[in-house]
Amino acid sequence: MSNISSRRRNYLLTPHRRDGLIEWMKSMLMHSFVLDALDTTGADTFSHFEVLIDEHRKMTDQYLDDISQNNKSTFVPSRLKQLVPQVGTFYTRLPLRKAFEAYNLKYGITSRRHICISFNEIRHILNLAQIIAMTDMYKGGSQLGLLPPLVPNGNIGGGGGGVAHHEKKEGETDDQAIRAWTSMTVTPRREVDDKSDGSQYSGDTTPEERSRAMCDRSESIAIEEAFSLLPDRTALPGPKLICFDGDQTLYSDGANFESNPRLAKYLFLLLKHGVTIAVVTAAGYEYQAAKYELRLSGLLAYFKEKGLKGDDLERFYIFGGECNYLLRLGADYKLHAVKENGPGGWMNSTKHMSESPGNWSESEVKSVLDMAEASFNSSMEDQNMRARIIRKKRSVGLIPKADEKITREALDEAVLRIQSELDNSKINLPFCAFNGGRDAWVDVGNKRVGVQVLQSYLGVPPEESLHIGDQFLNTGNDFAARSVCPCVWITSPEETSYILKSILRLAGVPLMAILNPVDYEDKKQVNGDKGNKGIEKKVDFDEMERRTSRLAMDVFTGEMIPLQRAASRDV
Ligand code: IMP
Ligand code: MG
Repeated sequence: MSNISSRRRNYLLTPHRRDGLIEWMKSMLMHSFVLDALDTTGADTFSHFEVLIDEHRKMTDQYLDDISQNNKSTFVPSRLKQLVPQVGTFYTRLPLRKAFEAYNLKYGITSRRHICISFNEIRHILNLAQIIAMTDMYKGGSQLGLLPPLVPNGNIGGGGGGVAHHEKKEGETDDQAIRAWTSMTVTPRREVDDKSDGSQYSGDTTPEERSRAMCDRSESIAIEEAFSLLPDRTALPGPKLICFDGDQTLYSDGANFESNPRLAKYLFLLLKHGVTIAVVTAAGYEYQAAKYELRLSGLLAYFKEKGLKGDDLERFYIFGGECNYLLRLGADYKLHAVKENGPGGWMNSTKHMSESPGNWSESEVKSVLDMAEASFNSSMEDQNMRARIIRKKRSVGLIPKADEKITREALDEAVLRIQSELDNSKINLPFCAFNGGRDAWVDVGNKRVGVQVLQSYLGVPPEESLHIGDQFLNTGNDFAARSVCPCVWITSPEETSYILKSILRLAGVPLMAILNPVDYEDKKQVNGDKGNKGIEKKVDFDEMERRTSRLAMDVFTGEMIPLQRAASRDV
């Protein structure tokens, strides 16, 4: 036993592909389910989670305050910390009961007899609670006490403190408001826009739901033409900075952001409402802007087509290589490197952070990369992987040979091995060793540093930042962001779309914009349409050429390779 590290012992005791908090919540809810009491005790269990989280937040804040004021303080773990040792920081409180009640109202999970609440359902409820918390729905309500329950037949909030939720429209009853809210949030399973025939709205739906479904369908038609006609925008009552992972969050693993008008539309609307957006991705191609542009081609083309301008445009960033290369969108719809050094340079202005790339020593960077390369080589050999290693300036990758696939277990083993070696070394640089799904990487730097640099550089506090990603297990690379801001854990770009739609709606942004006939005529003139044929779209020849080009970029290396080979990688 003596040569087994404590990290390895912990993995032997705690399976690594688990999220401690969600697993614990699941086990708590399992008791009620087995006793057939989820219907009566489910909401109270979520209230109990809230109490424990509030207590944990309070104790953590107190401890940090004491330390910052040099007061003598001993760390006393909260009850939650004792129950879930892996639990981290909560930057906002989480209205879990409210989120659970809304979710249950929609999916009837407590009336199930055979299937207990699942991991994914708890993940959805946590996501929902997080975005409700951030869209400030409880402004005026008690920040510390329990939120009043959402009663299916009546009052939202049940009095006591002017609780605001879904923007209640004039003449709308509380009951209608609840239904509207539950129909617009939660998960994409019954996402209205996902079906054009509205078939999910048959039978058991109310007239309001049906008309809302029709509104949502016409939304997709009207909104396309109505962006420039949005009413005066106000700052979004929600997150001010949203960081997105790239692969599997904005586009499928290894693919590019090509055509996803719905997701592009929500990103566009967020920018129009003053939100700063940053793609914080492990993919690193130094400052070769064209390579990032290629990966975001559909999104940038969408911004151009919709005429995104000025500040709105300049609030779009990409942080490549986790936290190594910062680029920003310019008026030409291209990405430009943000100055690193000198006055106003991003590295320069974040040097106060010990982990900032501006403070790294090149010799330490080299040591990390050397260790990673050696470790990946031995993992590859021990596990007979059909793989190869690539080394970049700030990362080392273990990637499958053409037409091969590396198993999840082999990638996890390689990742946990190098994590343990780096943890036990004298190296002080932040790093990220992760399983990317098809490959494994060690990057110098991580998303904790990426998000923190952005917060500091842009002046956004942690509780007003949000990171959305797909890799929150401890072998994933979004995991690192957890310690510096609230996070939303999604599993696909469709879920990302749904989350953004919910944020926009909960924040009161009109997704359904009505065309003003005068503006509509003006717009037609701008587009050169004098007749009655509707709005003509200009053909973007550059984009067409790019899409039909015979070369494609290898997402691992950033090299341009023949299309055939690139496609075969995309397993
Ligand atoms: P993310 O999900 O957007 O953070 O991207 C992760 C994926 O980017 C990895 O799984 C790799 O396939 C790809 N990638 C390309 N270059 C790099 C690199 O330098 N470091 C890590 N990942 C990279
Ligand atoms: Mg990802």
